[in-house]
Amino acid sequence: MTKSLRLVVLVSGRGSNLQALIDATAQSKIRSRVVAVISNKPDAMALERARKAGVAHSVVVSKAKSNDIFFRELELEVNKHQPDLIVLAGFMKILPPALVKAYKGRIINIHPSLLPAFPGLYAYKQAIDAGVKVTGCTVHFVDEGCDTGPIIIQKVININNDDSEDSLSERLLAHEHAALVESIKLIEDDKLVLQGKKTLLRGEP
Ligand code: GRF
Repeated sequence: MTKSLRLVVLVSGRGSNLQALIDATAQSKIRSRVVAVISNKPDAMALERARKAGVAHSVVVSKAKSNDIFFRELELEVNKHQPDLIVLAGFMKILPPALVKAYKGRIINIHPSLLPAFPGLYAYKQAIDAGVKVTGCTVHFVDEGCDTGPIIIQKVININNDDSEDSLSERLLAHEHAALVESIKLIEDDKLVLQGKKTLLRGEP
């Protein structure tokens, strides 16, 4: 049965993935909707996108604060919105184990590489420097590691000889948006089964 999930989106910057979710709801591609956007950066463009869409938005500043204090404040803010699913969309902080545990199986992240290759920062640079011929993006459930949780969807693009970090990221972005929306569709339709490190499609052998 399709559910309408309450999505809380955590961001740090531009917010194009957030926008893809807002648009997907408006276009009825998903039934779930963004109920709140929380940024750790006061100047994130994502906040402006939330404002324009009439979505609740707030800032929990991470700068000049211990991780302990920041994540305690963040968890309180997240809890207020009673999310069914937390979406990390360009959120540049690694969630602590306690927060991951509190929302186990209910946090997803979008990462711009074909995980498990090139986790963490500078994924495009890592791919270019490694000389790989393809890269892509991964949507995965968040576990206690950095970009290590069960993979939901991946999209692949070729790397050309003259690609730079900028050209790769520009070409990959539309695929990221599609992967994120498709992942949420799978979750709201209850199509995913978690089996250890893997996600399987329900009913598939
Ligand atoms: C995306 O490339 C995403 O994969 C990475 O951070 C970037 C966020 O972009 N985690 P945006 O803020 O959604 O435009």
